[in-house]
Amino acid sequence: MSKPFLQVDGLSKVYPDGQGGDLTVFEDVRFALEKGEFVCIIGHSGCGKSTILNVLAGLDEASSGNVVMSGKEVKGPGLERGVVFQNYSLLPWKTTLNNIVFAVRARWPKWSKEQVREHSERYLKMVGLDHALNRKPSQLSGGMRQRVSIARAFATQPELLLLDEPFGALDALTRGVIQDELVKIWEETRQTVFMITHDVDEAILLSDRIFLMSNGPNARIAESVKVDIPHPRARATIFQNPAYHRTRDYLVDFLVNRSGSALPEKDGSPKFVEPASGDVTPASGPSESKAESAARAVNA
Ligand SMILES: Nc1ncnc2c1ncn2[C@@H]1O[C@H](COP(=O)(O)OP(=O)(O)OP(=O)(O)O)[C@@H](O)[C@H]1O
Ligand SMILES: [Mg+2]
Repeated sequence: MSKPFLQVDGLSKVYPDGQGGDLTVFEDVRFALEKGEFVCIIGHSGCGKSTILNVLAGLDEASSGNVVMSGKEVKGPGLERGVVFQNYSLLPWKTTLNNIVFAVRARWPKWSKEQVREHSERYLKMVGLDHALNRKPSQLSGGMRQRVSIARAFATQPELLLLDEPFGALDALTRGVIQDELVKIWEETRQTVFMITHDVDEAILLSDRIFLMSNGPNARIAESVKVDIPHPRARATIFQNPAYHRTRDYLVDFLVNRSGSALPEKDGSPKFVEPASGDVTPASGPSESKAESAARAVNA
């Protein structure tokens, strides 16, 4: 069998607990991503999602385990991996366009000026910002800034895109608009994406699979949930698909009732579940209103 695009093995992170002992935030995290997959990871606050993402980005070191991408071990940051953080990190002295141009030029130093500009403008157009090319970040709204960050990350065409709650700071309306844009860009580029979110609806809209993390300390990636809903998907119609409701109930049940005790397979890999097939019913089958209130708590 061919090797997966990204392989994570036996990853753990241990911090001093401040009382002379150790605190194992997560342990024996194992998973693989195939090229072109969009995978979201969900888990309660503090279980270690950002730490895992930062290890994949090469911005943090694991206490044990390793990450191999395209046959090479990840040991530091690289242009083949792009990151979008929760708080848009644009260069404040550069215009919208030049924030993208800067990154595109670093990625393809041999490209002509025209080529760089044309490419950068194309990605700004994808996020609906071609009218704001010459504005500085301080002249943009929060949502617009986040769209620039996303355009920049996609424009450099990294082999792996790492998104850490990219819409966490946005109001629900803006978030919806950008989610739709992200769906559109991804349908076009089919880049491999690993994204953290607290929002189960967002995860279902975007992902091929959703990783569910158990609570820390000693958190694990316990399950890998298949989202069996055909592409292209749209926010306005996805709820008409029965698979959407089965998947959503399953996720909410995990977060509310099972995240404290869920375990992966014996070999440490996440249990693969397909709620849309109808074979899996949440252990406690939350009623509509319970699922709704739980989801609100999760999204808060
Ligand atoms: N420098 C540090 N020293 C000790 N503990 C730390 C340090 N940095 C992070 N932690 C702990 O590691 C755990 C995981 O942090 P991380 O930011 O990865 O969580 P998260 O799952 O992304 O949470 P959230 O959903 O709130 O963003 C937390 O419990 C945090 O307290
Ligand atoms: Mg985090």
